[in-house]
Amino acid sequence: MKVDGQHYRTIWLNADGWRSEIIDQRWLPHEFRVATLGALDDFARAIREMWVRGAPLIGVTAAYGLALRMTENPSDAALDAAWELLHATRPTAINLRWALDDLRGRLRPLPEAERAAAAYARAGEIAAEDVEINRAIGAHGLEIIRRIAAEKPAGAPVNILTHCNAGWLATVDYGTATAPIYLAHEAEIPVHVWVDETRPRNQGAQLTAWEMAGHGIPHRLIVDNAGGHLMQRGEVDMVIVGTDRTTASGDVCNKIGTYLKALAAADNGVPFYVALPSPTIDWTVSDGAEIPIEERDEEEVSRVWGKTTEGHVTQVRISPEATPAGNPAFDVTPARLVTGLITERGVAPASRAGLAALFPERV
Ligand code: MRU
Repeated sequence: MKVDGQHYRTIWLNADGWRSEIIDQRWLPHEFRVATLGALDDFARAIREMWVRGAPLIGVTAAYGLALRMTENPSDAALDAAWELLHATRPTAINLRWALDDLRGRLRPLPEAERAAAAYARAGEIAAEDVEINRAIGAHGLEIIRRIAAEKPAGAPVNILTHCNAGWLATVDYGTATAPIYLAHEAEIPVHVWVDETRPRNQGAQLTAWEMAGHGIPHRLIVDNAGGHLMQRGEVDMVIVGTDRTTASGDVCNKIGTYLKALAAADNGVPFYVALPSPTIDWTVSDGAEIPIEERDEEEVSRVWGKTTEGHVTQVRISPEATPAGNPAFDVTPARLVTGLITERGVAPASRAGLAALFPERV
């Protein structure tokens, strides 16, 4: 997508061909900064400390990190150690393990001298595939938005609620949940997006809102607690969220707070869709309760980042020093609350049979 008229992806190779450049998302929306990752530890830190975030982007970043390590030491031991280091950075998003397993599986049979080049080639392919997957998700999701628009009075916007950030910053480009929104906007279907702020890290306020503004899409930021009220008043036509891991039976793990939105949507008859790239399906897990839920630093809850009126980006404490905080970063929405899974191959019911019909080679 474009930033100030210039096309960017969230990650790209430096001109030297081995280091990676990323948009350092910690500073958005206040500052646009690019960081260079030139050592394996840089990649691990960037994922762990959320310089990059979102399941698809985490997977691609890990792939480039592993590739860089192969230029330094292509041995089996270094491959395994890099896999372990990168895999330990964040436990919930399955794209991380998917990308690391994919690379290691391809590199292991190769002579050491060929591993670095093969790793960069495959990391580049995974990045390109992510873009194509999101484009296809956009096309399938667009048809849903088109149908909803057709049922509304002419010219009335389709009101779409999002949670967390499943926009282009969470992927290599386009985004998952936002791809249908961009396409609807381009097709001149009026859309309006309710952007959940998504405490504690405020991915909605900081990233989704910045993306929507940058693309000229009408949107309003709301606190996480407002969604149910807006649904009761008929001001939400559909919900689209992303996912960090979806089970083979359609249980959806996503940013904390997603489950509450799904409950409110079900109670109000609002369709609740999940944009789901196939690398985010964990075919080894059937029950969402088995997914490891990342517990993050309590300071993410007791402190918030923002920009002062003097223009400094800083962090302030919002709770008493003595008050401990809990910070589960994801929750699981049971398949029964999900209207449909928008994948690159089409829209599936959130069920084992629904996913199996679209991905028969996986079952
Ligand atoms: O910021 P993160 O990496 O903790 O959050 C992940 C997400 O961006 C969301 O959960 C998102 O909806 C799924 S990834 C497209």
